[in-house]
Amino acid sequence: MPEEPGAQSLLDQVAEAERQLIEAAGRGRPDADAEAYFDAVIAADQKIEPRDAMPEAYRKTLIRQIAQHAHSEIIGMQPEGNWITRAPSLARKAILLAKVQDEAGHGLYLYAAAETLGADREDLYAQLLSGRQKYSSIFNYPTVTWADVGAIGWLVDGAAIVNQVPLCRCSYGPYARAMIRVCKEESFHQRQGFQSLYVLARGTEKQRAMAQDAIDRWWYPSLAMFGPPDADSKHTAQSMEWKIKRYSNDELRQKFVDMTVQQAEVLGLTLPDENLQWNEERGHYDYTQPDYDELMQVIKGDGPCNRQRMANRREAVESGTWVSEAAAAYAAKQDTRQEAMA
Ligand SMILES: [Fe+2]
Ligand SMILES: [Fe+2]
Repeated sequence: MPEEPGAQSLLDQVAEAERQLIEAAGRGRPDADAEAYFDAVIAADQKIEPRDAMPEAYRKTLIRQIAQHAHSEIIGMQPEGNWITRAPSLARKAILLAKVQDEAGHGLYLYAAAETLGADREDLYAQLLSGRQKYSSIFNYPTVTWADVGAIGWLVDGAAIVNQVPLCRCSYGPYARAMIRVCKEESFHQRQGFQSLYVLARGTEKQRAMAQDAIDRWWYPSLAMFGPPDADSKHTAQSMEWKIKRYSNDELRQKFVDMTVQQAEVLGLTLPDENLQWNEERGHYDYTQPDYDELMQVIKGDGPCNRQRMANRREAVESGTWVSEAAAAYAAKQDTRQEAMA
């Protein structure tokens, strides 16, 4: 299979962010009072750690962002989980199982990162179920054929990586560290999706049409994953100042388009946009924007699968309560036993 363009440079960026994290951990800390200290750490591109004083708004922004990210990982297991029992071969089933399990792991790292900011995990779960906290709207679209699993891996995980690679350099240490591991796994997810579509694109006429149809349906929702255009994005400026965010929504969306057009050529499938064209002057591809009114509609709860996703989540929490209660009781018992031995 030919090497897909773009993916290697993203992994290089993950490696570079990991190197910077290790370096930052080894540097000494500037001394000053709490507020000046925070500003100095941010200015010096060092990491804020849970023990450090931080502005309340910084803490709240991070909790909101990390919780939304964690919820997305957990809800994101549903559209693909839908195909585990119907994967076309044992190998595909094993790959899909591993992928969906990775997403559960991502959710757990992220809830743990939110806890380092003083958030309570039960409270975050409750806020998801009550609709006060959101998850990525992309997971409110249905997976109607097997090719959707490939399209999700290639486009949705692909867009997630473009969004998350810069977060490996985020100013909050626990989030940055979680993102390094997450990105390494997402890169694997993206490749398996690409590979699955590559096989379908070279299969029967029907398989090829199924792959093309999946791409046609997932392209614009994937573009919408980067959020509203910069002019309408209310959190961007402050988040960039705090070095939580490194690029704007539109910059990341463009990066994703540029990378994906080349990969579509390797696949031999087309992206559903007649205006996709290389712009020599800008050094980027021109493209049609996704429908942001539809995005807002889906965020508000009116996507094709919002109700189903939340109902499944609620059901999972209710039917799984006895497991978490048993695990908590077991952990408490272990603690008591260890205390008695000490
Ligand atoms: Fe993930
Ligand atoms: Fe993923």
